[in-house]
Amino acid sequence: MKKRILSGMRPTGRLHIGNLVGALENWVQLQDFYNNYHLIADWHVLTTAPESAREITTNTREMVADWLSAGLDPVKSPMFRQSRVSAHAELHLIFSMFVTLNRLLRNPTVKEQARDLGIEDLMSYGHIGYPVLQAADILLYKGDVVPVGEDQMPHIEVAREIARRFNNLYGEVFPEPEGMLTKYARLPGLDGKRMAKSLNNAILMTDPPEEVAAKLKTAFTDPQKLRRGDPGHPEMCLVFTYHQKFNQSETEQVSNDCRSGALGCVQCKKRCADCLNLYLAPLRERRAQITDSVIDDVLTDGERRACEEAAKTMAQVRAAMGI
Ligand code: TRP
Ligand code: SF4
Repeated sequence: MKKRILSGMRPTGRLHIGNLVGALENWVQLQDFYNNYHLIADWHVLTTAPESAREITTNTREMVADWLSAGLDPVKSPMFRQSRVSAHAELHLIFSMFVTLNRLLRNPTVKEQARDLGIEDLMSYGHIGYPVLQAADILLYKGDVVPVGEDQMPHIEVAREIARRFNNLYGEVFPEPEGMLTKYARLPGLDGKRMAKSLNNAILMTDPPEEVAAKLKTAFTDPQKLRRGDPGHPEMCLVFTYHQKFNQSETEQVSNDCRSGALGCVQCKKRCADCLNLYLAPLRERRAQITDSVIDDVLTDGERRACEEAAKTMAQVRAAMGI
């Protein structure tokens, strides 16, 4: 029997090419070897931004369109909103009894989020419980494997502890989920920092070709290479990182020509934009076919299947607990 993957994202709008190479491509590859469930963590958005509730629906639809354009197949990989499967709330409540407040307050990812937002002393009960809700997300579908970035590992650890605690108390119901670190290192943003929409350094999956080229023109390069003819250091250059991903066949050539000075940055960036656009072309083509009704159908079907699985697990939970 195939193992089950549970993965998810918070719907915060259109995705960038870092999400594509860091997560989505991995999901697409895994969908043939695992049973995949893809969760849209819309309640999780409320943990840090309750005032943005009204944007969640639009952002969810944009995100689903990006998922589909990346090649996720809704038949193999049901996609569903957490808020449409109320068992997430039920299991979250039960799980909240199995983890101490101190344990949750030690979570480095939650702490960092609070620090970034400047709300360390103002954290809501729900925000501190972020990993408990995530544990419910994973275990409601008996996820064996959770493909995530490094920052999510503390949450997976909480889910494992909760599963173990439940099983010890009431009998074996849940697998202990394993985090699977995404292979491809994070693609940096145009300024070399972590790529994030909020930092204004991201290329979006939906950016049109001219926009991709215009953004790449602003990318940071080797600061010692000021003009064509100057020898450059591709290993210090962001554009070269993109060549390594999107222009694999010419990587060596680019590296040599950068070093020798034969290649100038303007030309190099233009070539990089062309390659990235070529890479994104099939995604754009798929995206053009995705109408509102396609998204509605994907969610309706995904949510029906998710509710069915969730109901099975909840029946086992109630039977194990005897309540
Ligand atoms: N915390 C995840 C993130 O910020 C999103 C998420 C919510 C998730 N529930 C999940 C990821 C369950 C994997 C499994 O990216
Ligand atoms: Fe970077 Fe290309 Fe310029 Fe070399 S030539 S520094 S790889 S942009």
